Amino acid sequence: MATKGSGNGKSGEIIYMDHAGTTPLDPTVFKAMIPYFTEMFGNPSSIHTVGQGARYALDEARERVAAVLNCRAREVVFTSGGTESDNAAIEGVATALQETGNHIITSNAEHHAVLHTCQHLESLGFDVTYLPVDSYGTVQPESVYQAITDKTTLVSVMYANNEIGTVNPVPEIASAVKQRAVSFPEPLLSTPMQCRQGGSWTWTSADLRSTCSACQGTSSTAPRVPGYCL
Ligand SMILES: Cc1ncc(COP(=O)(O)O)c(C=O)c1O
Repeated sequence: MATKGSGNGKSGEIIYMDHAGTTPLDPTVFKAMIPYFTEMFGNPSSIHTVGQGARYALDEARERVAAVLNCRAREVVFTSGGTESDNAAIEGVATALQETGNHIITSNAEHHAVLHTCQHLESLGFDVTYLPVDSYGTVQPESVYQAITDKTTLVSVMYANNEIGTVNPVPEIASAVKQRAVSFPEPLLSTPMQCRQGGSWTWTSADLRSTCSACQGTSSTAPRVPGYCL
């Protein structure tokens, strides 16, 4: 994307290429959202018409996200963004399964929203393995396989790296988890991830074979704020 204006002290053009970090808002998304800032701004929990209009739009959006991700609408939880989605997914799974085990696997190239959540869980007594990545920033499925123990309840690997854009082999990692799980109580595979830019959704949670996904909108031409986890 080319942006006119500041940045180099001249009136030159800036070529914006950091779509792994964040994307510009798609004009179609902007247009579709205008009514919710101007007419249908109600609190969706209110019982009056303006609130119910917002409620209807929210429910419809949830259905549409679920259809794209191949899950049930009630499994989609809208959040304030990626950090909250990562927190909810990781802490939610880890604490829900703590009677089963207390071991979490992630990589040392994850977003701080994941790393800090894992560090917090460590302070609560959880055991976290931070896998190294290869020279491309990729998590190797074999290293996940080797790290799983009978106490592992969660493997959390990002889909696309927010700094370098490396796409992890999440389906292969999921296969490694399932193969290894044969001898253990089945661990869960959670994949806090970024959406692909340009709105070109080429995967669903079923494709990724993930049990739980966390996402933020800013890397997929959505506004700065929304995220979801399921
Ligand atoms: C995996 C991951 N989690 C969380 C975030 C932060 O998202 P937010 O700023 O919406 O909280 C990012 C941002 O790039 C991310 O890539």
